[in-house]
Amino acid sequence: MITSTERLVLRKFRETDADAVHAYASDPEVCKYTDFGPNTWEDTVNFVNTAMNHEPDSLADLAIALRSTREVIGGTGAFLPKGEEPDERPHVREIGYVLRRDLWGQGLVTEAATALISLLKQTGTVTRIEARCRPENLASARVMQKLGMKFEFLLERDYECKGVWVDSHLYSLDLRAPRP
Ligand SMILES: CC(C)(COP(=O)(O)OP(=O)(O)OC[C@H]1O[C@@H](n2cnc3c(N)ncnc32)[C@H](O)[C@@H]1OP(=O)(O)O)[C@@H](O)C(=O)NCCC(=O)NCCS
Repeated sequence: MITSTERLVLRKFRETDADAVHAYASDPEVCKYTDFGPNTWEDTVNFVNTAMNHEPDSLADLAIALRSTREVIGGTGAFLPKGEEPDERPHVREIGYVLRRDLWGQGLVTEAATALISLLKQTGTVTRIEARCRPENLASARVMQKLGMKFEFLLERDYECKGVWVDSHLYSLDLRAPRP
């Protein structure tokens, strides 16, 4: 286990999580604004393998599991900002999250991402967290606001997603001490 919250555990993905991952990653509604999916079974198996092979201390691709049942219900993680090389802004991490549809609206992803942000703070090296969402993805934007993130700007035609150039809203969280 990487960390836990009142209702959740964040941990590394395991091979046996593939069914649980596929349940949300193959759902077209869940994948409406995500870079991945809807997954084929092969996509899901490849994802789980990739997630399992990150460095042991990596915070990329963590499983979100319910504490009560240990069931995997989603994923979160911190990555290098999209399209950037490791040495460009080494102090910045971009976070992302996804949750099974029947559990939306209960504050679970806000709880998971709050725990992830605590872990990023504890690294002592990450001083800025970013997140981006499609302007239409109001639930994701709301999560960012609840995390205390600040809306920065619109990135027009930010990146090509499933064959379409899409806009993003960029949010940020400054982890440094407040300005004097
Ligand atoms: C975005 C997502 C991760 C949110 O997870 P969640 O556990 O439901 O989030 P929370 O319950 O913590 O918060 C969601 C907030 O959005 C609000 N919300 C949901 N749908 C909304 C909508 N259409 N318009 C405005 N706000 C909306 C909720 O009311 C809630 O805010 P509140 O607590 O002030 O009431 C989840 O919907 C999801 O997995 N979506 C598909 C994947 C995805 O889009 N990931 C993000 C890619 S950038």
